[in-house]
Amino acid sequence: MTDTYLNLVNSGFTKKIAQQLGLPRPAILRRFRPGQPLVDGPVLVLGSGPDADTVARVLSSTSGHGAADGGIDPASTMPGRDLDVRRDPGAGDRYAAVVLVLTEVAHPNDLADPILKLGSVLKALPAHARIVTISRPATPDEGPATAAARQGIDGILRSVAKELRAGATANGVVVADGVTVTAPSVLGALRFFLSTRSAFVDGQLLDVDTDGGALPLDWDRPLDGRVAVVTGAARGIGAAIAATLARDGATVVAVDVPAAGEQLAAVANRVHGTALQLDVTAPDAGTRILEHAMARHGRLDIVVHNAGILRDKLLANMTAERWGSIIAVNIAAQLRINEQLLTSGDFTTEPRIVALASTSGIAGNRGQTNYAASKGGVIGMVRATAPLLTAFGGTANAVAPGFIETDMTAKIPPVMRQVARRLNSLQQGGQPIDVAETVAFLASPQAGGVVGHVLRVCGQNLVGQ
Ligand code: NAI
Repeated sequence: MTDTYLNLVNSGFTKKIAQQLGLPRPAILRRFRPGQPLVDGPVLVLGSGPDADTVARVLSSTSGHGAADGGIDPASTMPGRDLDVRRDPGAGDRYAAVVLVLTEVAHPNDLADPILKLGSVLKALPAHARIVTISRPATPDEGPATAAARQGIDGILRSVAKELRAGATANGVVVADGVTVTAPSVLGALRFFLSTRSAFVDGQLLDVDTDGGALPLDWDRPLDGRVAVVTGAARGIGAAIAATLARDGATVVAVDVPAAGEQLAAVANRVHGTALQLDVTAPDAGTRILEHAMARHGRLDIVVHNAGILRDKLLANMTAERWGSIIAVNIAAQLRINEQLLTSGDFTTEPRIVALASTSGIAGNRGQTNYAASKGGVIGMVRATAPLLTAFGGTANAVAPGFIETDMTAKIPPVMRQVARRLNSLQQGGQPIDVAETVAFLASPQAGGVVGHVLRVCGQNLVGQ
């Protein structure tokens, strides 16, 4: 769906008028294209101590496979493309990205130096710049002062994200104590947040729990050789996920209801995958998905639970039908499918489950008790499913989109739709590709250390949690 306002304030004459009137001018976000450099300009690495030195070294190394501490150079998108990494802000320098390595802060007093240095370069940040923090979780183990400093980073990150303009974002990687900063998922998440793949992810902190996972041999095709099932793939976000997983190397099984058969076949053809007409609420849906994947492709590695529906009503007017259908499609089907996959014995080679939650399942939404129950349910489900997969090197995680431009949100009345679009730090709705990129990251080998979490793709919604 087109966001006319976004286009008007970014083109010719109407752009000038918007400038003169001081109207909000959301930027047209820069999105990923193969061959694009990871970061388009110098990168400033702030923070003192061995971890900051290591991150700077890894980022500046482009000497290829096996060179950096992580085993494979995480920075180069194309061979020979150097990242220009600096350690101290120079007067007037413009940085395309700032990485703050804050793993060693032990007291709130330790925050002043790196954060004020970040402040000194903010005004000169170019459009679409990236800020990424790397920090440790605020657990009680290291004592109150360390916990205070670490939790403070959370507040700083979310505040800085709200101060940025012109498509710039700030996100953080929170690395569990005992996991090194060169763990695959730390480097994988750092790279994801630095890249244009995370264009609509803003103000988020992603936990890395283990040093599991692996850096891909080819960053442009991290899913080579994998077979992925995407439910609800006939249109919208599901179709974008199918295309993105295929772009990243996966063979895709596209699943949707028989009524969407024609669109489904078109998607499956486009991504050179196969189509499976199936209502995910069927009692044997998991078994049928597995049978199809094994018979047609010989394996199953990734399941993306994307199929979902809306039946909004205030709770006072809620009917059993509206409540029941939402629970059946959005969460009960996922639980049943997972159970069938997990007990099959055929979903055991670094399996990945990625499920679509929603910011409504986190912050709640008027008229959506049923939907929020199902989407909050998804978050609980991945948290409890992830430990069941760790023995096989697998993970389960969720993606929580905010307002995304699809047929689902096209049904929202126009005024409410305009408001919903602007109520985030990037002042626009996301595109299906933004959700798809995040799903692809969580499905990738480099996200193997992210275990049972939810990553929001919402442009940092200003309302709710
Ligand atoms: P959509 O309505 O455009 O597409 C959903 C797809 O799921 C359709 O192709 C539909 O046929 C399929 N589907 C529905 N019930 C099914 C069933 N029982 N079995 C198999 N397939 C079924 O929705 P959209 O916007 O692409 O959303 C995709 C997912 O993202 C959903 O889970 C939704 O709740 C979630 N989401 C979307 C947001 C948005 O702003 N669009 C925001 C937050 C979450």
